[in-house]
Amino acid sequence: MDGSYAAKAFIASQSIKNTIPFLAQLSASFGKTAFVPVSISAFARADSQSRAKELNLCFDRHGSDKSTLHDYHIFYAFLLSSPESVKAILEIGLGSNNPGVPSNMGADGKPGASLRAWRDFCVNAEVFGADIDRDILFQDQRIQTYFVDQTDPAAFKVLAELIPPSFDLIIDDGLHAVDANIQTMIFALPRLKPSGWFVIEDIAFAAESLWQVVASMLPSDYASHYIKAKNGCLFAVQRLS
Ligand SMILES: C[S@@+](CC[C@H](N)C(=O)[O-])C[C@H]1O[C@@H](n2cnc3c(N)ncnc32)[C@H](O)[C@@H]1O
Repeated sequence: MDGSYAAKAFIASQSIKNTIPFLAQLSASFGKTAFVPVSISAFARADSQSRAKELNLCFDRHGSDKSTLHDYHIFYAFLLSSPESVKAILEIGLGSNNPGVPSNMGADGKPGASLRAWRDFCVNAEVFGADIDRDILFQDQRIQTYFVDQTDPAAFKVLAELIPPSFDLIIDDGLHAVDANIQTMIFALPRLKPSGWFVIEDIAFAAESLWQVVASMLPSDYASHYIKAKNGCLFAVQRLS
């Protein structure tokens, strides 16, 4: 490519900025729009309000910010319509309180807060967690945690040997970087039970076109949803069969 370095740099940065949105447009131009974004209240509808209150209490009791900061309790209460029938949950990201760890919860964070909330809400479930911070791994009643680095496929292979083969719900609340999200998705989707869900939390509002592209790549037995919540979006995939 001829031209000044400044011109090449401009073209390269413009291409980086435009490529994903243009891919989403290409997909949409063939009618392949994988989801229509919805608000959390439109997604959840009204019938799960009492469960949402209960889940809110669970998150607050253990110090997770899932309800206070994001209103995710409304979303999850709708997803988990029969909490007592949930048998296995996996969440990536325990909530490190080490300020040196990326995506930490600050020095006052409570590692394992959301895992304990899932344990209390889903009274028959075994709850599994995984995190890059080895210092916060723990075991508790119906809770086991393990090391994983979401950016490393080899780490997921090791994790797979330690946990059950299938889950009702798998959550990515870890590094919050797209490569980590996609690696986690590769791991999670085949490990969902029929009707099970995979959820990526805290997606930036500007990233919608990327998730349209990802969703358009999924086979027809996975249904994608994009939910606009408080302070971030959720990308949720349900395995249909
Ligand atoms: C936002 S916190 C999780 C909060 C917790 N789920 C809750 O709701 O209470 C994010 C976590 O991701 C972990 N993390 C950061 N990078 C990671 C990586 N590459 N692989 C796995 N976990 C990672 C951090 O150590 C931190 O504990």
